[in-house]
Amino acid sequence: MTEWIGTANHGFASLAMEELRRMIQGLKFTQLIAGETFRMEVPLNREAMVDLLRTNEPIFLRHIQAIDRILPIQGNADDLQALSELVRHARARCASGSTAIHLRKVDGSRYPYSAADTKTVLEAVIMELGGETTMQAPEQILSVFAGTDELYVGWGTPTEQLSDWPGGAVRFQREEGQISRAKFKLLEAERAFNLHFETFRDALDIGAAPGGWTQLLLERGLRVTSIDPAELHPKLDGYPRLTALKKNASDVTFAPGSFDLLVCDMSWSPMQMAKLVLEKTDALREGAAAVITIKLMHKKPLQTIRDVVAKLETAFELRKAKQLFHNRDEMTIYMAKR
Ligand SMILES: C[S@@+](CC[C@H](N)C(=O)[O-])C[C@H]1O[C@@H](n2cnc3c(N)ncnc32)[C@H](O)[C@@H]1O
Repeated sequence: MTEWIGTANHGFASLAMEELRRMIQGLKFTQLIAGETFRMEVPLNREAMVDLLRTNEPIFLRHIQAIDRILPIQGNADDLQALSELVRHARARCASGSTAIHLRKVDGSRYPYSAADTKTVLEAVIMELGGETTMQAPEQILSVFAGTDELYVGWGTPTEQLSDWPGGAVRFQREEGQISRAKFKLLEAERAFNLHFETFRDALDIGAAPGGWTQLLLERGLRVTSIDPAELHPKLDGYPRLTALKKNASDVTFAPGSFDLLVCDMSWSPMQMAKLVLEKTDALREGAAAVITIKLMHKKPLQTIRDVVAKLETAFELRKAKQLFHNRDEMTIYMAKR
């Protein structure tokens, strides 16, 4: 038996738990943050659990942290002392590769320190042991989850935890001139699906306005054809590589093989969206990539996803499906044209 903390986007914990229940018999859950974070007992050893999640990554489980140790919270400096001792006992681990410290805290936790203070102290201990600390691309993460009265501490790699951000909460800096927050969704998709948009040439952006996704693809050097009956932001005026069609996507046709990338963020009925995307498949080259958000507007989101994916699979091969941190009532799929 092993214990873990699972995290999903706010309001989606029940779906993350349902997906896990379908994969593993005999799970026991306890809520840590309503609708978002839960503790679970899993009747599998660590390797089996990590392996299972690696080969069947769930859509709604955003992050997972092992609970290797539980420390009672004293509410004073003893807590930092206890965490420092725990790190000192992991000398060999600290020396084996760069470490990041992640701290998350529930509202009302008796643990009195901020993430920054905890990091400063624990990083000093790691360095004293001859280890290396980092924020970017760590080889391992020491995760501390401060519940109300207990600290749950676990070690893991970014791959095991499904993310290298605390709780999978991926943060991007808002840039000057950024048109919409929607841009973060595509940036996160690029990382989550290990895509490198600069390696594509011709993109079709369906449901493009106000233009955050189009902006990102133009910045990556692609030629972009955007379709939306709504106006694109004036900041996009004058991009020579942009063709903006102010139309409904169902009224537009293209020559076969015009694009090697399709992105679609229509926030529309999922089945209608799938129909519309399928109408555009001839315009895509063989093997073209597609990044598509699926709005979860119905009572049975897992069924909606299955239905939409099955429909799209008539022309595409599903590579990965994930609810990204920047997705609200939606999730994102990455497919390749057959
Ligand atoms: C969530 S917004 C897209 C945001 C965009 N990805 C960005 O980064 O700024 C959804 C857009 O889909 C567009 N849309 C909805 N149905 C459409 C259709 N049938 N054809 C083209 N665009 C459509 C809407 O006009 C709206 O601008």
